[in-house]
Amino acid sequence: MKTYIVGNWKLNFTVGEASIYLHKLLRKTSNYRGIEVVVAPSAIALQPLSLQIDRHKMKLCAQNAFYRDYGAFTGEVSFSQLRGLVDYAIVGHSERRYILGENDKMIAKKIAAAIRNKIRPILCIGETESERAFGETADVIRDQLTGGLSEVADDDIDKVMIAYEPVWAISSVKGAKLAGPDEIAEAVKIIREVLTNIYGAESAKAVPVLFGGSVSSSNAGAYLTVPGVNGLLIGGASLILSEFTDIIEVAKRVKE
Ligand code: 13P
Repeated sequence: MKTYIVGNWKLNFTVGEASIYLHKLLRKTSNYRGIEVVVAPSAIALQPLSLQIDRHKMKLCAQNAFYRDYGAFTGEVSFSQLRGLVDYAIVGHSERRYILGENDKMIAKKIAAAIRNKIRPILCIGETESERAFGETADVIRDQLTGGLSEVADDDIDKVMIAYEPVWAISSVKGAKLAGPDEIAEAVKIIREVLTNIYGAESAKAVPVLFGGSVSSSNAGAYLTVPGVNGLLIGGASLILSEFTDIIEVAKRVKE
């Protein structure tokens, strides 16, 4: 399986800044065999960056989109409008769940809309600090996975990617802590068990599982060698060109 290095720029960079950053990143990046580099800028930058990006080197990802294709939904951008512009879309990020009130039902519809529009969804799941403290981690993972995938047919599970992002490990969360390799391995094991129960062992094995939460060039190697982890979803560090390119280099070395 490929290794996926995904940079989630969140609400950062103007369109101009995003374009300059992408320009520099493209210059510093080659076409790595076995590594898929993906960047997720703000929605407003997707169209211009889709003209600028070299798809042999990296792919474009939306941070979110709406589940209906068109209609009276003021302010929304649909997956059908993004069709052809992006290859991936982040769905169900914890910032959308907890700041913007997205629930598993909406997330399930978004996953279905992405697949319908030939965009590969990256379904984000992960427990909060208090859920972990109460011993609910496994239940949260199970609920968010089964909820988010409730509209995904057997034939379509190979189009989905999962990102395990424990909320307490995200750098912007107050008092964020680094997740340990064992904690991640345990969560990934549960994720594969759930996928196996729903879709069978063979399909479950083929679904890429990424880790996200305070990933930097200094811990990327440790996280990429956690059993069952197929890539990284990077927030803060993806905004720093040297950090992001160093993480790609680490991924290359781990792959070799
Ligand atoms: P950080 O890498 O800044 O912790 O963000 C992780 C994240 O939320 C990526 O989607």
